[in-house]
Amino acid sequence: MHYAALHSPSQIQLNRFGDLKHFISIEGLSQRQLNQILDTAETFLGDHGQILNEPRLDGRTVMNLFFEPSTRTRTTFELAAKRLSANVLNIDMQQSSTKKGETLRDTLWNLEAMAADVFVIRHSSSGAAHFMAQNVCPNVAIINGGDGRHSHPTQGMLDMLTIRRHAGRPFSELTVAIIGDIKHSRVARSDIQALQTLGAKEIRVIAPKTLLPKGIEEFGVQVYEDMDKGVVGCDVLIALRIQNERIGSALLSSPEEFYKLYGLTEARVKRAAPNALVMHPGPMNRGVEIASSVADGEQSLILKQVNYGIAVRMAVLSMAMQGQIAEREARA
Ligand code: CP
Repeated sequence: MHYAALHSPSQIQLNRFGDLKHFISIEGLSQRQLNQILDTAETFLGDHGQILNEPRLDGRTVMNLFFEPSTRTRTTFELAAKRLSANVLNIDMQQSSTKKGETLRDTLWNLEAMAADVFVIRHSSSGAAHFMAQNVCPNVAIINGGDGRHSHPTQGMLDMLTIRRHAGRPFSELTVAIIGDIKHSRVARSDIQALQTLGAKEIRVIAPKTLLPKGIEEFGVQVYEDMDKGVVGCDVLIALRIQNERIGSALLSSPEEFYKLYGLTEARVKRAAPNALVMHPGPMNRGVEIASSVADGEQSLILKQVNYGIAVRMAVLSMAMQGQIAEREARA
């Protein structure tokens, strides 16, 4: 199933004042808008990095519709909504009537009739969140929890919050490497868009040809097929998961061979800048894209990323709801 986009995500996700009313994609958002998400997320973090309660969605209902498996995204959206005092429903899409042939549009309209204010959707089809935003009734916000290979905007923003809090320098002074399965990764696309908009000094992608999307050079990145060269001097190293469920043909010789050529090992981290940040969106394949000693090492921010995900998701939930309210008041 593919959901064709009739409007660009950047048009559909903003209200008449240019503020978020959905969050479908980072593409098309300005530096000011991305910084606004990061700054709002910061307000939900206490002095020691703890997540604060803020009842901005009191009385609202957030429904999580996850058609694909998830640990981090689904759970942190639930925690975020609860920290904002919303009612949260996790709909088990494997047990839903979509399994009996009900369309996504009909599912959406039926759940709307139950007075949902926000839908968070994860779907294997690129464009699914955009399709929902086109078909949802006014006043209901759609947040993309990852659609196919297209976009994972809240992961992109939590990655940017992690970098901004830990790099100790502005984006304009940072060289960031994104390593591994770029071709099938919605995280890679969202990270590249965010890093470009925030003005990163250099963005590198490191991968074998078979795991690079066609036309990758047009993304404004430096491409390295040799990982030992690609990591040299990098300030941030983002390892990606091999997307086995999206790899149709034999694009990998073997996990062992991939690890030998592209695994983020201690030796390769040493070739990057001193104290380079090590990141991974999860779930990790230890011993395939990253060594356990690196994933659990002193430079790793992998679990911090998960924690910041709650604050970023609180930010986009509250901002989208606010954008919907402002739009409704302007229409009235
Ligand atoms: N990073 C991420 O999207 O993880 P989950 O698939 O567990 O949500």
